[in-house]
Amino acid sequence: MRTHYCGHVDESLAGREVSLCGWVHRRRDHGGVIFVDLRDREGLVQVVFDPAAEESFSLAERVRSEYVLRVKGRVRHRPAGTENPDLATGKVEVVGEALEILNPSDPPPFPLDEEQEVGEDVRLRYRYLDLRRPHMFQRIRLRAEVCRALRHFLDERGFMEIETPILTKSTPEGARDYLVPSRTHPGQFYALPQSPQLFKQLLMVSGMERYYQIVRCFRDEDLRADRQPEFTQLDLEMSFVEDEDVIRLMEEMIRHLFGRVLDVELPDPFPRMRHAEAISRFGVDRPDLRIALELTELTDLMKAVDFKVFAGPARDPHGRVAALCLPGGGSLTRKEIDDYTRFVGIYGAKGLAYIKVNQRAAGREGLQSPILKFLSDEVIAGILDRTGAGDGDLVFFGADKAAVVNESLGALRVKLGHDRGLVAPGWRPVWIVDFPMFEWDEAAGRWTALHHPFTRPRVEDVEALERAPGECTSQAYDLVLNGSEIGGGSIRIHRAEMQAAVLRLLGIGDEEAQAKFGFLLRALRYGCPPHGGIAFGLDRLVMLMSGADSIREVIPFPKTQTANCLLTEAPSPVSEAQLRELGIRLRRPQ
Ligand code: AMO
Ligand code: AMP
Repeated sequence: MRTHYCGHVDESLAGREVSLCGWVHRRRDHGGVIFVDLRDREGLVQVVFDPAAEESFSLAERVRSEYVLRVKGRVRHRPAGTENPDLATGKVEVVGEALEILNPSDPPPFPLDEEQEVGEDVRLRYRYLDLRRPHMFQRIRLRAEVCRALRHFLDERGFMEIETPILTKSTPEGARDYLVPSRTHPGQFYALPQSPQLFKQLLMVSGMERYYQIVRCFRDEDLRADRQPEFTQLDLEMSFVEDEDVIRLMEEMIRHLFGRVLDVELPDPFPRMRHAEAISRFGVDRPDLRIALELTELTDLMKAVDFKVFAGPARDPHGRVAALCLPGGGSLTRKEIDDYTRFVGIYGAKGLAYIKVNQRAAGREGLQSPILKFLSDEVIAGILDRTGAGDGDLVFFGADKAAVVNESLGALRVKLGHDRGLVAPGWRPVWIVDFPMFEWDEAAGRWTALHHPFTRPRVEDVEALERAPGECTSQAYDLVLNGSEIGGGSIRIHRAEMQAAVLRLLGIGDEEAQAKFGFLLRALRYGCPPHGGIAFGLDRLVMLMSGADSIREVIPFPKTQTANCLLTEAPSPVSEAQLRELGIRLRRPQ
């Protein structure tokens, strides 16, 4: 139907006849002539209809926004002074000779021709129109380019794209499962995969050696800007590798991706940071290295102070006292400090003590703080020395269980970075390595796996693991980019005894282990090669690369924070007959 895309019409076509198809982006009546900006996925071009061409002109009078048109016409240079330098096609226009209305359109529920803010609800309800907007189209195109570059890289290196089941059994990735009732086995359920973890390991047992898949994963968890109930992973697994092999190849892949798609050169190699160091310096295991602020350790200094708020956690073996110095923070108002105090409250912090440094040389007199009276000169000097706080700075304090201090000051660090314009531009990847194998769950009174239970611990044998599980690190690695965890993986356990021991330590008894993972434990006994892999969050990667602030912006048909699809209105009730067929009777919500 067309000879060219609208967005590709340029001076090289001047004098030529073209046939274009697209949508009416905007229509303007200008004293006799009608201008239509015709839009397709490649861009816009201006079409002019002159009253002399009677038939097409009278049709052009009828077109409205988002009508679908086919236009035949001749390309010409725009008259001097009417060029539009903001438009790729801005030096030319098309003189419309024949016009066909392929389809009219109801007036769109929001204008598509301006970059104005539109409520997310209405955007999601009319997602097909939202996606017509050029910046949304660019994001979806970028996503396709990312997939293409990743596939190309992996195909070249002998990886095979292999599918794994969607109707399957629960894989423990730490979230709730989405369940699917079975009609043929009433009362029994499939689980949608939280990841292809176990199947990709089985493919290694099968001798595939290098597997990958761009795959949908399902997790019924609390949603945030960077989480969706269904999301996409670039999942892969390799046999006969050590962590170093996976890390190096994946780094090369991400560098290739950024070079090819964004023309950005990432560092070579990526820096690495031990998990313990990340927590101690940044409070979180996904540090945003673009922000120069760091936590300062004060636990040892506070053991002997009279101030209970600090001394209590300092003396608690699970406690921590730490500071966060904000350069220039002396200008914060009382209200701003109160707001930050409320903010850290979200993470369980009971308060947010602070000291403003007006004039450091003046000693105690040069400081301003509600807690000064509780602290000796010596302790104050220690705080100022360690944080390096100078005139005009402000020091925040966190004192609590270490987990609360880390999470709250870690989040505050990022918030201050954004609020105060302290986020340096650019790309800061970092591998987080040497994760603890287990974490003690105080409430449940048992160990939990920090990565997942199939990750290989860094120990010689089962006895060494059982002697001190809390001290054992794992062969896991996460890739963090600008404060976002974009990928995580590990070398796996390939011996049945070690896998059984780890499940035992996690409080999964032999019977339960057999019921849940019997198929894996059995497979490990049939010549399972050493293997390992990783999965990247494709949505997060594309979100970062496109500069969007939520993964919803790079998913064509996402769900809301409450896991609704506003477009189709899923989830929705089903008929009594369907339920009966599945052997299900509903318990009505209270
Ligand atoms: P993990 O659970 O770390 O590892 O997931 C890998 C990556 O997937 C992304 N991700 C998500 N993205 C959007 N919404 C979600 N709800 C969501 N959950 C996770 C993150 C994360 O880094 N099987 C292991 C991988 C392995 O060991 O090879 C796994 O799934 O970017
Ligand atoms: P209070 O003694 O409770 O009035 O607290 C004195 C100061 O310490 C106030 O600025 C509180 O915000 C702060 N504060 C209280 N509890 C904590 C805590 N756990 N960590 C950091 N600061 C706190």
